[in-house]
Amino acid sequence: MNRNLVFIFVIIGILISTCYSVKIKIQDHNKIDASNAYQIGVGSYDITGPAAETGMMGYAMPGQVTGGIHFRLRARAFVFIDSQGNRAAYVSTDSCMIFQAVKIKVVQDLQAIYGEEMYTEANVLLSGTHTHSGPGGYSMYALYGITTLGFYKDNFDTIVNGIVSAIQRAHDNVKPGRIMAEQSELWDTNVNRSPPAYANNPPEEQALYDANVDKNITVLKMEDMQGNPIAALTFFAVHCTSMNNSNHLISGDNKGYASYMWEKKVNGQNVLPGQGSFIAAFGQSNEGDVSPNTLGAFCPNGSRCSIDSTCDGKTEGCIAKGPGADMFESTQIIGNNQFQKAYAMWQNASIPVQGPIIYRHQWLQMTNVTVQPQFHPLNKTGTTCRAAMGYSFAAGTTDGPGAFDFTQGDNNTNGNPFWNLISKFIAVPTEEQKECQSPKPILIDVGMTKPYPWTPDVVPIQIITIGQIVLIAVPGEFTTMSGRRMRNTIRQVLQDGGMEDPIVLIAGLANTYTGYIATYEEYEVQRYEGASTIFGPLTLSAYQQEFAGLAQSIVEGTTLPPGPTPRNLTGHTWFLLPPVIFDEAPDGDFGRVYTDAQSSYTYGDSVNVVFYGANPRNNFMIESSFHTVDLQTSEGNWTTVYNDGDWDTRFYWKMHDLAQSLCTIQWNIANTTIPGTYRITHSGYAKPSSFSSKLVAYTGISSTFTVTAN
Ligand SMILES: *[C@@H]1O[C@H](CO)[C@@H](O)[C@H](O)[C@H]1NC(C)=O
Ligand SMILES: *[C@@H]1O[C@H](CO)[C@@H](O)[C@H](O)[C@H]1NC(C)=O
Ligand SMILES: *[C@@H]1O[C@H](CO)[C@@H](O)[C@H](O)[C@H]1NC(C)=O
Ligand SMILES: *[C@@H]1O[C@H](CO)[C@@H](O)[C@H](O)[C@H]1NC(C)=O
Ligand SMILES: *[C@@H]1O[C@H](CO)[C@@H](O)[C@H](O)[C@H]1NC(C)=O
Ligand SMILES: *[C@@H]1O[C@H](CO)[C@@H](O)[C@H](O)[C@H]1NC(C)=O
Ligand SMILES: *[C@@H]1O[C@H](CO)[C@@H](O)[C@H](O)[C@H]1NC(C)=O
Ligand SMILES: *[C@@H]1O[C@H](CO)[C@@H](O)[C@H](O)[C@H]1NC(C)=O
Ligand SMILES: *[C@@H]1O[C@H](CO)[C@@H](O)[C@H](O)[C@H]1NC(C)=O
Ligand SMILES: *[C@@H]1O[C@H](CO)[C@@H](O)[C@H](O)[C@H]1NC(C)=O
Repeated sequence: MNRNLVFIFVIIGILISTCYSVKIKIQDHNKIDASNAYQIGVGSYDITGPAAETGMMGYAMPGQVTGGIHFRLRARAFVFIDSQGNRAAYVSTDSCMIFQAVKIKVVQDLQAIYGEEMYTEANVLLSGTHTHSGPGGYSMYALYGITTLGFYKDNFDTIVNGIVSAIQRAHDNVKPGRIMAEQSELWDTNVNRSPPAYANNPPEEQALYDANVDKNITVLKMEDMQGNPIAALTFFAVHCTSMNNSNHLISGDNKGYASYMWEKKVNGQNVLPGQGSFIAAFGQSNEGDVSPNTLGAFCPNGSRCSIDSTCDGKTEGCIAKGPGADMFESTQIIGNNQFQKAYAMWQNASIPVQGPIIYRHQWLQMTNVTVQPQFHPLNKTGTTCRAAMGYSFAAGTTDGPGAFDFTQGDNNTNGNPFWNLISKFIAVPTEEQKECQSPKPILIDVGMTKPYPWTPDVVPIQIITIGQIVLIAVPGEFTTMSGRRMRNTIRQVLQDGGMEDPIVLIAGLANTYTGYIATYEEYEVQRYEGASTIFGPLTLSAYQQEFAGLAQSIVEGTTLPPGPTPRNLTGHTWFLLPPVIFDEAPDGDFGRVYTDAQSSYTYGDSVNVVFYGANPRNNFMIESSFHTVDLQTSEGNWTTVYNDGDWDTRFYWKMHDLAQSLCTIQWNIANTTIPGTYRITHSGYAKPSSFSSKLVAYTGISSTFTVTAN
């Protein structure tokens, strides 16, 4: 690619620190018989990518690169089939979001396995949990690859293969089952991080709701016909930013932890992560302006930030935190809140899910949708725009402020000469574009870059109904009020069409990522979420209109044209992170112990064993582990009680003497641990000679040590 562009990418990277019946009649809700059961299949698979040196996706912070694993990332797949054989697949992935190329490749791979009819763009819904602690580089669109130095194919392949494998597992174990739903509210677990934007929504609309974030939580309980648990699927809107931008360990954040806890509870505490048959997914929803950092945002001196999220006029120091003493504890608390509430709801889930599986999908040219007056907040005709990011995008949020002199809500295009220069160099916005995006001051005109726009312009819209459960798959981050408006629009269309008591849910960060979707009124305030609403002030209105079209087609039983074909960027990506070249250990002895275990420990202690290892980018150890904690069961016999998918252990990777790797395995001994004799192992693949692609497996073992109760 063009050298100047590469240069700009790097500069920016460094700087932005930051066929059914016409009417659906849902039958009486009092009885389930075998005729309205579904076939349900569930499966999960490892999607943990490179655990070293790779830019993490979410905070857009160069320097926040992976350096180990706290616990592994998984894709959790659900396949639903109704009594007529209609099928849909929903997958929640522990990833920041689903990028367009991921969805397209997953469907392509599924069709290579199952033929072209079984799984399609239309009946496969992929959603990200929005963890900010996973490796990035899996977007083919440039904007989302800046801080990962481009497109990292190995990570992309890992995510695609993991999702396909999870769906295959679900496909292979479908069996008759029931779905029950339960709706409730969960408090003390999310807060609005952009109250000034939310407050700009019409007062009469705000008065309809009891909070400035959705407290609603919905659980779908799945069991077989004998009443054995199969799976749980929970929807609750909250960012997975409990782990902050100082973290370097791969982590599923609060939703990943909630899944981990629930799966352990049902599958058994001695079943290693990912090995049991019960799956608990925590699907993301309209989390755009929703933070898990419930204490709010503070300045370095401990006082609250000003209302524009600054300290002394600067965003850098204003950071949200809580509810725990550190980010690990905060992750646990927010994850545990979701798990405990959902688990209690699961146990008395009372709403039988009944009815057909129906889906509609279209590709939409989002850059010039004509919005009709009934969807325009000012009751007039309008249009969406080519994509552009505003100044507040560079300011970041209180979950991860940009290390640059920007303030959220600032609309001053003359504020920063350097950024003005850079943004004009990339693409000078036309007067038409400025007017269309107004009042957003344009920082980067991502829709106008050559030869390709930096963000998708043809985006997928999709609705899947499973009985009265309605999943609206949105290609980005809807704010609280945007999500409410969208649900209300779709509920109205479905109810007018004769559907009774639909449970309408937003499946967020699904199928493609196009930034945020704020309301028209929030957009006027131009905080981070408004600045990142790329298709202009009518972005939400256009989605309401077009998704309403899908819902109308569902109730009328019509078919819809597929829409324009999205751009295929395969082969048009670039990647600047060098491969692993030097990979050495003293005497070539990979796995040699550098710092051994002590001879004994007690509850609350932390075991730290350091090994000379290899670069974890050599092999991601998918469905395996970089370490084990083993309990001695008899002389010479060991059983693994923890691996790198577990919460209680951490794997830290560090470069040593330029070419070596020091791998620290940490085990924080819980007070529920069985007293006994233990050891720690570390495994990986090493590259014994530079410039050779040959990889050799190695394992190191610590001395044995005892754990006693205190
Ligand atoms: C959210 O929950 C409240 C209270 O449970 C309920 O009245 C409301 O209808 C729910 N909203 C949506 C959009 O589901
Ligand atoms: C703390 O810092 C903020 C911003 O730097 C300042 O506005 C505030 O007055 C300080 N508070 C105290 C108690 O020093
Ligand atoms: C992240 O959280 C840790 C506590 O776990 C805290 O020490 C650190 O200051 C936080 N960093 C940022 C950038 O928020
Ligand atoms: C379970 O159902 C009972 C009775 O309907 C209700 O009072 C209780 O709040 C429910 N529990 C949860 C966690 O929703
Ligand atoms: C929108 O743009 C597409 C692609 O440039 C074009 O084919 C289409 O006609 C345009 N639609 C409208 C309503 O302008
Ligand atoms: C929108 O404008 C049309 C035409 O001026 C008018 O008939 C209609 O009542 C208006 N709708 C609302 C909700 O104000
Ligand atoms: C910028 O913001 C100020 C104050 O919020 C407002 O008066 C002004 O109209 C805005 N300018 C533009 C170009 O939107
Ligand atoms: C995209 O292009 C690549 C390389 O040319 C090709 O292998 C792939 O099948 C294309 N994908 C689609 C969905 O057409
Ligand atoms: C190890 O365990 C196996 C199976 O539990 C048992 O058959 C074997 O005798 C044990 N070996 C030793 C040395 O105790
Ligand atoms: C065990 O640890 C948990 C969590 O750290 C703590 O809440 C509990 O009080 C501890 N129990 C004992 C008996 O120490």
